[in-house]
Amino acid sequence: MKSFSLQTRLYSGQGSLDVLKRFTNKHIWIICDGFLARSPVIEKLRNTLPADNRISIFSDITPDPTISTVVQGIAQMQSLQPDVVIGFGGGSALDAAKAIVWFSRQFGIEIETCVAIPTTSGTGSEVTSACVISDPDKGIKYPLFNNALYPDMAILDPTLVVSVPPAITANTGMDVLTHALEAYVSTKASDFTDALAEKAAQIVFQYLPVAVSKGECLATRGKMHNASTLAGMAFSQAGLGINHAIAHQLGGQFHLPHGLANALLLAPVIHFNARAPRAAKRYARFAKACHLCPDNANDTAALNALIHHIELLKKQCALPSLVDALKDGKQIWSQRIPSMVQAALADVTLQTNPRVADASAMQELLEELL
Ligand SMILES: NC(=O)c1ccc[n+]([C@@H]2O[C@H](COP(=O)([O-])OP(=O)(O)OC[C@H]3O[C@@H](n4cnc5c(N)ncnc54)[C@H](O)[C@@H]3O)[C@@H](O)[C@H]2O)c1
Ligand SMILES: [Zn+2]
Repeated sequence: MKSFSLQTRLYSGQGSLDVLKRFTNKHIWIICDGFLARSPVIEKLRNTLPADNRISIFSDITPDPTISTVVQGIAQMQSLQPDVVIGFGGGSALDAAKAIVWFSRQFGIEIETCVAIPTTSGTGSEVTSACVISDPDKGIKYPLFNNALYPDMAILDPTLVVSVPPAITANTGMDVLTHALEAYVSTKASDFTDALAEKAAQIVFQYLPVAVSKGECLATRGKMHNASTLAGMAFSQAGLGINHAIAHQLGGQFHLPHGLANALLLAPVIHFNARAPRAAKRYARFAKACHLCPDNANDTAALNALIHHIELLKKQCALPSLVDALKDGKQIWSQRIPSMVQAALADVTLQTNPRVADASAMQELLEELL
């Protein structure tokens, strides 16, 4: 038996931020990172909220939010006792907000509404039952999945994303593609998640290069914002795979941005998974659904077309190679492989990978990356 549920009410499109005008006389607590707290984007949010609300801000979130930041947030939430919590930012701020609300609820602190407002188009965290919290001392990122992590409301207003610089647009956009692809080949994929993943990926192939080169185009930003949420809905139900299991190690140990880490793993992971016949067929179907090859192409030709178009997309997005992205980290790459293998094997996202990966297969994959 498979199950599928959508628990977050979505508001999308230019001007959708206005839905916040319904909150009056509330204590609203905004969780974001330091950059956004000083940016004009947050003024847009503040100006939308009716003046009779009391607004507090927690802006200590850093990329890949840490356990200690979440603990700090829980303590603040305990003392502030807000009515509404708004996670505002990229996946890091949304994940931190979701984790803070979830753990606080376990301590008996209730809120009326948890709102997620993404300002990047990548993680889909606004509609997922997931959050990723890091332990910087151990170099490990912990993905957590729980139905209580779904936000009550998500607002997809593309005007909040136009300021995202090209490199972050590229990285986060490749995260969308990875979510769609991993959900599609996952052992838990269904017709429902396939439909979401296909649409998300079609949008990425068509619009991501435009979003990177013409970031001011609101229509394009709106498309990528929707794609991010569609892919989030897909993987939140179908799960992810070895791409994310390893990307979490590149983030935890080498601090590569999440979407970039995913992008650099896509081709080697597809080669690895495609040795499982069911996965090879699914990749081929994905390539056809995204119109990357003729409908009558055989599975091998379709798989090659998929890899070719991913490499092309990476080029159009000007992504660096893994060697360049690692910088000095490349000198310690080999010595870190054993700990990356162990952490990737324990990563919950590996559970739905279409090909079983044991320690030696994982090690081989990591050794071939550099
Ligand atoms: N919960 C989930 O379902 C899920 C899924 C995938 C990834 N993640 C996690 O999300 C995190 C990554 O999120 P992300 O890729 O969105 O990056 P991020 O949240 O770390 O943000 C990246 C950078 O973009 C900046 N930024 C955000 N909005 C901006 C804007 N409008 N204009 C200019 N700059 C802006 C931020 O200040 C930051 O410096 C990772 O920790 C990853 O593991 C979570
Ligand atoms: Zn991701």
